[in-house]
Amino acid sequence: MERVLVTGGAGFIGSHLVDALVEDHEVVVLDDLSGGRIENIEAHMTRSNFTFVQGSITSEEDIAKALDGVSTVFHFAAQPDVRLSVMKPLWDFTINVHGSMLLLDNMRRRDIRRMVFASSGGTVYGDADVFPTPESIPFRPISNYGAAKGAFEMYLSSYAELYGINSVSMRFANIIGPRSTHGVIYDFYMKLKRDPTRLEVLGDGSQEKAYVYVSDAVDAAVMLAEKMWPGYQPVNVGSGQRLKVSQIAEIVRSELGVPDARIEYTGTRRGWAGDVIVTDIDVSRLRSFGWFPKVDIEDGVRLYIRWLVETFGPVGV
Ligand SMILES: NC(=O)c1ccc[n+]([C@@H]2O[C@H](COP(=O)([O-])OP(=O)(O)OC[C@H]3O[C@@H](n4cnc5c(N)ncnc54)[C@H](O)[C@@H]3O)[C@@H](O)[C@H]2O)c1
Repeated sequence: MERVLVTGGAGFIGSHLVDALVEDHEVVVLDDLSGGRIENIEAHMTRSNFTFVQGSITSEEDIAKALDGVSTVFHFAAQPDVRLSVMKPLWDFTINVHGSMLLLDNMRRRDIRRMVFASSGGTVYGDADVFPTPESIPFRPISNYGAAKGAFEMYLSSYAELYGINSVSMRFANIIGPRSTHGVIYDFYMKLKRDPTRLEVLGDGSQEKAYVYVSDAVDAAVMLAEKMWPGYQPVNVGSGQRLKVSQIAEIVRSELGVPDARIEYTGTRRGWAGDVIVTDIDVSRLRSFGWFPKVDIEDGVRLYIRWLVETFGPVGV
């Protein structure tokens, strides 16, 4: 059984990845629980092929514990919030660039040669001028989060060339699904839970983004890890489907049973500083592996809303 490390494995996407990997791998999770929850991995705690290291990618000591005997690293730990990266740039850098580098360089020193990295298709391209945006387009991030993801990808490129560490960087679309506690759908649900009569939407509703359901994102990660080839390779990972914020607001209202809640747009073109207005990633490279998503994205939005209601309760009572 191959031993793999999932950093951020107690988080939203990381924990779904752990669920998939633990069936036929020895899995180590390194997570400081700053955003993740122990409940997400609780089911595996008693398994002999599962190890949880509570610690940070910013600590060499924690990294050393987690890397013991590992041959592939799925690097999903991050400060994942674009808005926070704008407010606290150096803190974002410490986790997303310096922490990632500490991990990568400790892999180099232990001759661990495979990394699968959770990058971000929307934010590394920023305000792209080619749609759908292929992997070959230069980075033009407009948030510090996007800059950090792009910066670390550049090190993946140099570490592949200099030290033979092979990597695939998944430039993810927005990922939705159970266990996610951030993003536009979560925000809308929480707002309607506080006040079911009105829904404030940041921006003018026309922002349009690429999405993928979490089970599909994980399926693509496992497939790309199995296929990993020499060098550094970026791959856009998305369903190929996009949704407008206004469409999401409509689906959320109707699925939560409050179709008359008043939608109030704040009216700006961008939702917030660092918000990319349109993301549309070209997924042909991913499809060239014969990979296709299984979940239609509107169905995915509904599945996720049902999970929110089951977990945090219905709206309007
Ligand atoms: N959710 C999305 O739509 C999306 C899109 C593109 C990329 N990504 C990337 O995918 C990865 C997972 O995102 P997510 O949505 O599951 O977020 P998440 O917050 O649920 O997961 C991140 C995990 O990293 C952990 N973590 C944070 N700082 C850490 C540190 N210093 N040391 C160890 N663990 C730490 C958190 O506790 C959490 O469990 C991140 O790298 C994120 O940037 C997410």
